Amino acid sequence: MSDKKAYLDCDSCEERIELDVLSGTVGPDAVDITQLYGGAGLFTYDPGFLSTASCGSAITYIDGDEGILRYRGYPIEQLAAKSSFLEVSYLLMYGELPNEDQLSTFTNKIMHHTMINEALLRFFEGFHCDAHPMAMMVGVVGSLSAFYHDSIDMQDEAHRELAAYRLLAKMPTIAAAAYKHNVGERVMYPRNNLSYVGNFLQMMFGLPCEDYAVDPLAERAVDLLFILHADHEQNASTSSVRLVGSSGANPFACIAAGVASLWGPAHGGANEAVLKMLEEIGDASQIDKYIDKAKDKDDPFRLMGFGHRVYKNYDPRAKIIREVCLQVLEKLADSNNPLFELAHRLEERALHDEYFLERGLYPNVDYYSGIIYRALGIPESMFTVMFAIARTAGWVSHWMEMLKDPKHRIGRPRQLYVGADQRDYVPMEERT
Ligand code: ACO
Repeated sequence: MSDKKAYLDCDSCEERIELDVLSGTVGPDAVDITQLYGGAGLFTYDPGFLSTASCGSAITYIDGDEGILRYRGYPIEQLAAKSSFLEVSYLLMYGELPNEDQLSTFTNKIMHHTMINEALLRFFEGFHCDAHPMAMMVGVVGSLSAFYHDSIDMQDEAHRELAAYRLLAKMPTIAAAAYKHNVGERVMYPRNNLSYVGNFLQMMFGLPCEDYAVDPLAERAVDLLFILHADHEQNASTSSVRLVGSSGANPFACIAAGVASLWGPAHGGANEAVLKMLEEIGDASQIDKYIDKAKDKDDPFRLMGFGHRVYKNYDPRAKIIREVCLQVLEKLADSNNPLFELAHRLEERALHDEYFLERGLYPNVDYYSGIIYRALGIPESMFTVMFAIARTAGWVSHWMEMLKDPKHRIGRPRQLYVGADQRDYVPMEERT
């Protein structure tokens, strides 16, 4: 029982309601309203969950005002500088950094689940060659359920862990197969002696007719982007995974729901949208015109890659990505990359504009990531897929955390009904 209380003077129930206030490790307290409906017959109303903590979680902490992001307590800046994506995945899943043996066992397990069933590979033949890879991802990831449904006992922790390994391991294989389908090339099988990212690059860009050498710069840059995208607490896609999973649904179906949610341009689709926007703007002389369009309420145009539900300050991931972007472009002897230059000028302009400052609109994680991916030869349509591979680490960690939580129940929000009150059925001949 909490010592802190909140009080609600309620006109409709003519009483003062006492509510417990819960404290986390850091961050704002939360008013416990679980008994509000049972006790006072009241719901809370919070469209878009602007003020609602949907669960307790020990995985990721964000302070949007200060621009802080930590996985399991570790600052994202330290993880980006010192860690690797698989180490971060272990950290997210198990709560602690692995020792050498633990990391090697984990890596080995992931790298030995990379193959997908041949029957699943044939699914791709059913898609048109220009199908969006995210559309293929939603379908094929969900279809994994059909291959593993009977082997998963959701109550068994070892089974849940195996499902998480399979998902983390097979996402790059499915993603690369979707790309190969788009470009009409033969699927490359995984190479388990390569790193997680090295193997993915090999499956993307390797050809059966020649040897493929992984470029260490591309490997490190993608690994870093994967670390930065690995988790972000209760965002739309993670909440989707949790909500679907709360009914006890198959984990592959839950992650397919996460992929579907991530696809939206307001979420993971933003990095693709940023490049489209930069191309539409064209050159620096057009920046003012597009800034005005972004500020105009009658114009649907928004500055893609700007703004975030939680960060009302610079997204810490965007700072790291901007640095990496410069390094990648310099090493590729492309430091005068016109898109980077334009993005930089647009950012400078927006950050000196009252409209953006007043609303706390700063570049988010997706503002520069697309430029890096493009410089590495990854096509725009694959940007959100890259995000989905990385976010799988967070999704499976949240799914496992939720199922372990004794307080977890099926997610079932209520509503404020604003439709018609009871009325009688009108026969057809009496309708106007
Ligand atoms: N360009 C112009 N104006 C903006 C932008 C933008 N990118 N983002 C927000 N605003 C304005 C809104 O019009 C609103 O103005 P108002 O107060 O005058 O009505 C105000 O800023 C607040 O915006 P909301 O939409 O209420 O903020 P919300 O938290 O709901 O939205 C979101 C956050 C969806 C990320 C939004 O900023 C956006 O659409 N950004 C562009 C898309 C994008 O980059 N998404 C990626 C997010 S990061 C991720 O998912 C990994």
